[in-house]
Amino acid sequence: MTDRYAVVGNPVAHSRSPSIHARFARQTGQDIEYGRLLAPLDGFVEAVERFRDAGGRGLNVTLPFKLEAFAWAARRSPRAQAAGAVNTLRFDADGAFGDNTDGAGLVRDIEARLGLPLAGRSVLVLGAGGATRGVLGPLLEAGAARVTIANRTAARAVALVDQFVMSAPAQATAAGAPPGPGAPLRERLRGCGFDGIGGGFDLVVNATSAGLAGERLPIDDAVLAGAALAYDMFYSARETAFVAQSLAAGCPRACDGLGMLVEQAAESFLVWRGVRPLTAPVYEALRAELAAEAG
Ligand SMILES: NC(=O)c1ccc[n+]([C@@H]2O[C@H](COP(=O)([O-])OP(=O)(O)OC[C@H]3O[C@@H](n4cnc5c(N)ncnc54)[C@H](OP(=O)(O)O)[C@@H]3O)[C@@H](O)[C@H]2O)c1
Repeated sequence: MTDRYAVVGNPVAHSRSPSIHARFARQTGQDIEYGRLLAPLDGFVEAVERFRDAGGRGLNVTLPFKLEAFAWAARRSPRAQAAGAVNTLRFDADGAFGDNTDGAGLVRDIEARLGLPLAGRSVLVLGAGGATRGVLGPLLEAGAARVTIANRTAARAVALVDQFVMSAPAQATAAGAPPGPGAPLRERLRGCGFDGIGGGFDLVVNATSAGLAGERLPIDDAVLAGAALAYDMFYSARETAFVAQSLAAGCPRACDGLGMLVEQAAESFLVWRGVRPLTAPVYEALRAELAAEAG
């Protein structure tokens, strides 16, 4: 029998997830169907429970419901716990299992597809919203020596670091391992405003939502020029504003977040089906699909 999955969000019509999971299913021979579920802004739990009660096996969760999914899940993975947000739900016999695959997706895209090992690197993350919260733990676990979070509202970046450091022992116990090698967390993590960034970063990740409006970020060219890679979590059919800004500033390499999207989806597929699909051909197909749409 065909197992049913979907992505739940509001809005959700733009989501590429159905196309990605259909490709994964064909490639691995898994008998699944994957659709879109538009939930009313005040009706997330009802929509999820209706989908589950009608035989649905799991959901991806996108904006603005990742925190509600976290609260609703009966059990959560250590990485969901660390992120405080859930993007993957699996309906098990003993209740809903909530996971967060965003951070693993980013790390895998950077290390495996783009060939930049994170161990020992100095990373700058721009933005202090949900996406940053989701990727912080995985970046540290991958061995990043230093992670600086810079946000338009500096206090949010500082608060995010404080929160993360305070909850770190619990995460370490839950994951069965300390959050990263080397120095204490407090020395590896820093939160600041855009005016306190400093320099010397190997990798700059844009996790702000400024890309939606095509806005330029107030970051010194020297910060971008000195990095080996600039990574925009936002993706688009055309070059994103942050990719354009980074290349113009002299950064040798910049890319958007389509690879992260495909990798986080593959990680969700693994959580649901116990099989990890190959991501490279799906990334290539999606990139071609986007280019064709752009004309
Ligand atoms: N590729 C993927 O798989 C993937 C996965 C997850 C997220 N994303 C992308 O990541 C981005 C962030 O998502 P999110 O869930 O973290 O959003 P969010 O929770 O709403 O956070 C938005 C962040 O962007 C900052 N920001 C918004 N407008 C800005 C501007 N004009 N200039 C500078 N900073 C600005 C906010 O700063 P303030 O605190 O000052 O308001 C905040 O830190 C989105 O573009 C999303 O599409 C991609």
